[in-house]
Amino acid sequence: MSDAISFFQLNTGDKIPSIGLGTFSVDPAVVVAAIKVGYRHIDCAESYSNQAEIGSTLKKLFEDGIVKREDLWITSKLWCTDHDPEDVPKALERTLQELQLDYIDLYLIHWPVRMKKGSVGVKPENVIQHDIPSTWRAMEALYDSGKARAIGVSNFSSKKLQDLLDIARVPPAVNQVECHPGWLQPKLHTFCESKGIHLSGFSPLGSQGFLKSDLLKNPVINIVAEKLGKTPAQVALRWGLQKGHSVLPKTSNEARIKENFDVFNWSIPEELMAKFSEIKQERLINGTGLFVHESYGVYKTVEELWDGE
Ligand code: A2P
Repeated sequence: MSDAISFFQLNTGDKIPSIGLGTFSVDPAVVVAAIKVGYRHIDCAESYSNQAEIGSTLKKLFEDGIVKREDLWITSKLWCTDHDPEDVPKALERTLQELQLDYIDLYLIHWPVRMKKGSVGVKPENVIQHDIPSTWRAMEALYDSGKARAIGVSNFSSKKLQDLLDIARVPPAVNQVECHPGWLQPKLHTFCESKGIHLSGFSPLGSQGFLKSDLLKNPVINIVAEKLGKTPAQVALRWGLQKGHSVLPKTSNEARIKENFDVFNWSIPEELMAKFSEIKQERLINGTGLFVHESYGVYKTVEELWDGE
């Protein structure tokens, strides 16, 4: 794989592999197929409730000599119930135990949302006032300890990132957000680029599974796919790489694992990239029913969660 965009450089100096396997609702067994195909980046989270299985899978891959720990990039995320600074190191410790690792390559604050300690389930009534500066100081301590080699955030708007940059000693390396041809977020892209924060895109296929979107049936994507002799999924992923963000496709299907990795050493020409601007823009995962509620909690509207972005 000699493509110039097989990695992106972070503000820590480390290089993040540009394709990562998303693991939300994914059968952990596919990690083996992914590593064998060439994926070197696995995107995990404690809230996905499958880190222990992924950890056992990784341990076996290391023992069998199929891949070395130092050649992998493993991301995980701090869940909303663990924002209290004293809970942050405990949460990472749990994640390291589940994944059977000594360090994580990237640790993210999963949402700019704090939920009652110990609360179960994603319900707006569990949301309490967050204090990102105090949580971030605890994240910085994990970075100092070397247990998290890079730290960052997820689902942050430009405004929330700027508020964080104003108080951060260690700036966030990454902001992981929903990003696909139907939700490019140009303002956030430009902001992140100007501040040296790498944007990583989750649901790069438009969340086919979780939200059953029909992004891959979009005519623009299909015309481009046909012209290039590629599949719509490959075109959506390659478009993301050419826009400068890493992509984290999810699949439990081995053939698709391979298909989704075959996005190097070819490219979408400029004139076809321009056609993507015709695609209607819409955020799919907006927090409604999760953290946003008109009468409970901290974010009463979707606009408040995303600061109007
Ligand atoms: P499956 O596990 O059956 O392959 P996203 O990462 O945007 O959230 O999308 C994930 C969803 O897209 C999963 O439900 C996955 O289903 C489906 N998917 C993954 N790869 C492909 C592909 N190459 N073509 C079509 N659908 C795909």
